[in-house]
Amino acid sequence: MVLKLIMIGDVVGEPGLAVLEKLLPSLIRDEGADFVVVNGENAAAGFGITETDKTRILNAGADIITTGNHVWEKREFWPVLDAEGGERILRPANYPGKPVGRGWKLIQKNNVPWVVINLQGRELMTPIDCPFRAFSCVETLGAQATEIHPLLDTEGTIPDLLKETGAIVLVDFHAESTREKEALGFYLDGRAAVVAGTHTHVQTADERVLPRGTAYITDLGMTGVSGGVIGMDAAVCQDRARTQVLYRMTCAVPTPAQPSELQGILVEIDRETGKAVSIRRLRVS
Ligand SMILES: [Fe+2]
Repeated sequence: MVLKLIMIGDVVGEPGLAVLEKLLPSLIRDEGADFVVVNGENAAAGFGITETDKTRILNAGADIITTGNHVWEKREFWPVLDAEGGERILRPANYPGKPVGRGWKLIQKNNVPWVVINLQGRELMTPIDCPFRAFSCVETLGAQATEIHPLLDTEGTIPDLLKETGAIVLVDFHAESTREKEALGFYLDGRAAVVAGTHTHVQTADERVLPRGTAYITDLGMTGVSGGVIGMDAAVCQDRARTQVLYRMTCAVPTPAQPSELQGILVEIDRETGKAVSIRRLRVS
């Protein structure tokens, strides 16, 4: 039996939310997707996510929302990460200490256990805990893990979680460095069904199934206005880059010439082995 997974890149602002609501339901139906992961860390006008944004993304068809460094932007959203029902949204697992929210989640859907793990990179970003060790911690402790702590890591452990539950393991690696992303992809090859990068908002053309059966792409891209700069207004981004003044970025506005796009991947996964069969880029407008 082959399972179909859709993972969607960072939803940027109202244009991203609107195109997600317009296109994701039909995409799920047409592709026969069994499970959908959407990164929503930029849904709130490019910075963070609100409770309304969360509801809109879930109603559009996401089974779970992943995030990244921008998840902390809206202070009023923090309780939602911990709240009843907040289990369908993740923040990166490898933040030190005990921040609110959850970094990974096991979701049963149609008798298939899906484990979604949200990790964040450290290269060219805030130096949080090691994402490699954080994955191993989740993998080793499985359902017993109530928090992620890198000291509990045992690197190189056999994937007990996958073995014991037959779970399909998905990773959203929110990271800047292509080197760090590819390294994690190979590190998790055979231990996760999918390692998909997010954060740069630029979809990469390196999707492939790694030798031990992990589908990999360095970045899913973004869901928003394709003609802007990472979904934001190009003029403001130029001013910021030229002057190094942190002018407030606003979302790009969709036009016929620069419409909103939905970007991500479609992955086929063998239910019996938990390994990827194929990976295909999605870019729909
Ligand atoms: Fe983002």
